[in-house]
Amino acid sequence: MSGKEKTVVITGANAGIGYQVALAFCQQGARVVMACRSKDKAEQARSELLEQVPAGNIDILPLDVSELSSINEFARQFADEIGELDILINNAGIVTPHLHRNSLGYELHLATNYLGAFAVTGLLLPFFKSSRQTRIVNVGSLAHRFGKFDFNDPNWNQRKFNHWKAYAQSKIATASFTQELNRRLQLTGSDTIALGAHPGFAATDMGRKTGATTPSTRFGQWYQNKMEAWIVGPPNQAAQPILYAASENGVEGGDYYGPTGWFEIKGKPGPARINPLAKNVEFGKRIWAISESLTGVSYLADLETKSNSLESGC
Ligand SMILES: NC(=O)c1ccc[n+]([C@@H]2O[C@H](COP(=O)([O-])OP(=O)(O)OC[C@H]3O[C@@H](n4cnc5c(N)ncnc54)[C@H](OP(=O)(O)O)[C@@H]3O)[C@@H](O)[C@H]2O)c1
Repeated sequence: MSGKEKTVVITGANAGIGYQVALAFCQQGARVVMACRSKDKAEQARSELLEQVPAGNIDILPLDVSELSSINEFARQFADEIGELDILINNAGIVTPHLHRNSLGYELHLATNYLGAFAVTGLLLPFFKSSRQTRIVNVGSLAHRFGKFDFNDPNWNQRKFNHWKAYAQSKIATASFTQELNRRLQLTGSDTIALGAHPGFAATDMGRKTGATTPSTRFGQWYQNKMEAWIVGPPNQAAQPILYAASENGVEGGDYYGPTGWFEIKGKPGPARINPLAKNVEFGKRIWAISESLTGVSYLADLETKSNSLESGC
């Protein structure tokens, strides 16, 4: 499939890694749908993209991935105005030091980084073109390797809030969802595959906007800037593993990509280390079930579980 024939939806496409992914697809001649929460920022980003690729084919659709009402409205507008897609990139994400909740009371890392992707995917699934290999790429993080998911208290109602643990929880859920999504797609005989990719560390606004990664002292800030220039990659380099998963020939559903340099922080894209928990099917089924229950979006019923229960007469 040439770039020109593709329609690509990217959440959080107005900044950082999502913007770089949008730029690369514009350069390939794809139709790019920027799914963004701020109209002004999205329009500004589209102008910048068009400066670089004047023939760019770019749509903007409003989407706040942390709010189910916005996701439902986005899906409705997508059906009316776009209607079909080849690639979905669930990229939008946050890290914030304080406990925030969406309008349903869900903790904001979980709602934004994970539950939004689960619901957007379910609602866009019917629009994937059939008869060619289409892809869903979920953007992960090195942090998923340390992630634990608390099924009793996913929204931090009882636990003392820790933002890095909340971020890691959202990313282990994303990694597990990717595997379980791919498994269920395969069981239905779908042409669509699901893959994961992480950017390593990138010098984007992530964490800076909210102060989550800003040291409190001036020396700390100076030191961070120095270290960042040395260790961390620029956003266009960090976007490469995501582009690899989305475009490269020969990738397979369930693959996970990242930078292949020191500690997967930056470098050429290639296979990345995945937390074995993400590959655990029972864990994946539990993540799926809690996601359906929290979002109210249900899709790809587990055929394997269904056929097992039919065989056993349940
Ligand atoms: N940068 C890193 O080192 C790093 C490391 C590991 C993983 N990642 C992952 O990479 C992805 C992109 O991060 P980035 O570094 O490019 O960060 P970024 O520069 O802060 O960009 C994040 C994008 O997500 C959007 N977003 C945030 N909340 C949203 C919401 N509720 N609805 C819709 N869009 C929303 C932002 O929109 P606004 O501009 O409106 O805020 C922005 O467009 C995230 O999934 C992140 O977890 C990044």
